[in-house]
Amino acid sequence: MNKIILLLCFILFIFITIGIGYRFINKESDQVEPIIQEEEVIIDDVKPIDTEIPADTDIIDNSTIEDNEIMEPEKIYDNDVFTDLNSILLLVNKTHPLPKDYVPSDLVKPNVKSNKSGLSLRKEATLALEKMFEGALEDNITLVLGSSYRSYSYQTTLYNNYVAKDGEEKANRYSAKPGTSEHQTGLAVDISDASGANYLKRSFKDTSEGIWLKENAHLYGFILRYAEEKEEITGYMFEPWHFRYVGIEEATKIYESNLTFEEYYNLLD
Ligand code: DAL
Ligand code: ZN
Repeated sequence: MNKIILLLCFILFIFITIGIGYRFINKESDQVEPIIQEEEVIIDDVKPIDTEIPADTDIIDNSTIEDNEIMEPEKIYDNDVFTDLNSILLLVNKTHPLPKDYVPSDLVKPNVKSNKSGLSLRKEATLALEKMFEGALEDNITLVLGSSYRSYSYQTTLYNNYVAKDGEEKANRYSAKPGTSEHQTGLAVDISDASGANYLKRSFKDTSEGIWLKENAHLYGFILRYAEEKEEITGYMFEPWHFRYVGIEEATKIYESNLTFEEYYNLLD
């Protein structure tokens, strides 16, 4: 009899133990669910925040102001930027000459294919020019550097030779008087096609090199300075070979505006 009671007690103990264990396991799984739900709630919370960002009127207003600034660049540039001799945006034209003795302090020799020895440019422009020539080569375009920095005295020789050949009036349309050439800034280059057949000729415009430069030079910080049908503004005939370094950001904005340097910065006298 005692044995039967002990057996019943043991069976009861087993049932109770199983029952407690089952409840315990159920409680653990109960705890898992709220954690998952909490994570889901957090994910749900992110969505409204994301959708609120575009609705933020301050952000939209700021971007609108930036767009306007690009359309009206004269409002954001200090005049020093165009007169400081060290500035990459230094303005040089028929009415804004350089001092006779001005020589850029950071002239270096570009490591590019050229048709002349002794060529040099300001360092920043040199690095950009080397990248541009490499970029062209990747597109199977071989550019050749023909002219870069020119001293005041070298420009004097060039100009006088052109005047002797064509007369002053005609020479003034394609050659700068000493002190007024962008080449003296060390930021301007003349580029030739690989054959040289179209160098310094209007026909350079239709060569693969001329077309590539027109479309890509701004990506390296250069602008086509004396554009077609802009002689009244620039003072010079169309020169599809003459490029001026202004930096990638400015070159891209000028390129996209379809304006000359003087027009884009409102620098007309
Ligand atoms: N051909 C350009 C205008 C120069 O002489 O600088
Ligand atoms: Zn030139």
